[in-house]
Amino acid sequence: MVEIRKALQGLHQPQAYPEKIASERLPLDRNESPLLPSAFVQEAIIQEFSQLSRYPENSAFALRQALGERWQLAPDHFLIGNGSFEILSLLAQVFLDQTSQVIVPQGTFVWHKKFSHFSGAQVETVPLDPHYQVPLAAIKAAIIPETKMIWLTDPFNPTGTKLRPEELHQFCGEVPSSVVIVIDEAYMEFADGDTIENSRKLVADFDNVILLRTFSKFYRLASVRIGYAAAQPALIQMILPYRIPPNHNRLGVAAAVASLADDESQQETLRFMKAEKSHLTQAFMELGLKVIPSQANFLFVSLEKHPSSLIDQLAEQVIFKPGKYFGYPSHFRLTIGTANQNRQVIEIVKQLIN
Ligand SMILES: Cc1ncc(COP(=O)(O)O)c(C=O)c1O
Repeated sequence: MVEIRKALQGLHQPQAYPEKIASERLPLDRNESPLLPSAFVQEAIIQEFSQLSRYPENSAFALRQALGERWQLAPDHFLIGNGSFEILSLLAQVFLDQTSQVIVPQGTFVWHKKFSHFSGAQVETVPLDPHYQVPLAAIKAAIIPETKMIWLTDPFNPTGTKLRPEELHQFCGEVPSSVVIVIDEAYMEFADGDTIENSRKLVADFDNVILLRTFSKFYRLASVRIGYAAAQPALIQMILPYRIPPNHNRLGVAAAVASLADDESQQETLRFMKAEKSHLTQAFMELGLKVIPSQANFLFVSLEKHPSSLIDQLAEQVIFKPGKYFGYPSHFRLTIGTANQNRQVIEIVKQLIN
């Protein structure tokens, strides 16, 4: 009988595909964009149809060049992946093994932990502080000689809280340079203020920092699977030989390049998110729910003051991420959906409470 690798044994039972069940529930659990790519971006995809029989250019140079212009960094600071998921997996494969320890904050994106486990690493989890914030001092204190990687997410998923840039910069300077600091910035473009400059400074100043971003969220392109890493060229070059070539697809690269140039859509996304986030927040607060201020495209909501059965009742009508997965059983994480979906959720909560 065949056996899977020792490091994987016991992590998961064999898994069958789930049965496909049509759901009437509002799908607000995956932090996707409620807005479609613009006609400009769709046209950029269509333009690629005549080349579909060809492999894409191996290094996604057009996208790395466009990112370089956006970040004011040379194209060799970037590695393109099949979604940032692929890069997360690649980083664990390249840097971790059975002798490694990694540190994650409580509630971190589950794949940070999973990929670490798949590589055989030990995962040390550090609790969030009382303000749902990632505790950098406690993370630093958890570093041991075996620590090979720290997985951060900024803004944090699931709470939507954001680290203070000066504190993060100082933290990166204090962590031993042999530890890889991965900062998953999947939701950074939704945050207030300049969303490039502080990140660029982290890349420029530290040779052990790897930032991850994605076109799946802010840029509305979850289907075409494009994410990227930004880091110093020497670090990118260490990872590059272990990538599947080519790991991206031509439609995704064209769409991502067009999205970066599509200022109008970016502004529209920011306006839409700001308006819907504030509408949902206010409505929930009026209903007595606690909403953690979010710098992302989702809300972390507490039902502490209501009976715990309310979360289960809500789950009958809305698909969200239950807080029990993150260590917060009275909370839930809700993606900000279309204006219509958001109003339906408010109505559902209202009816359940009254
Ligand atoms: C924190 C975080 N990182 C990475 C991803 C994966 O994104 P991608 O679509 O680029 O693979 C997600 C998706 O939800 C996420 O929440």
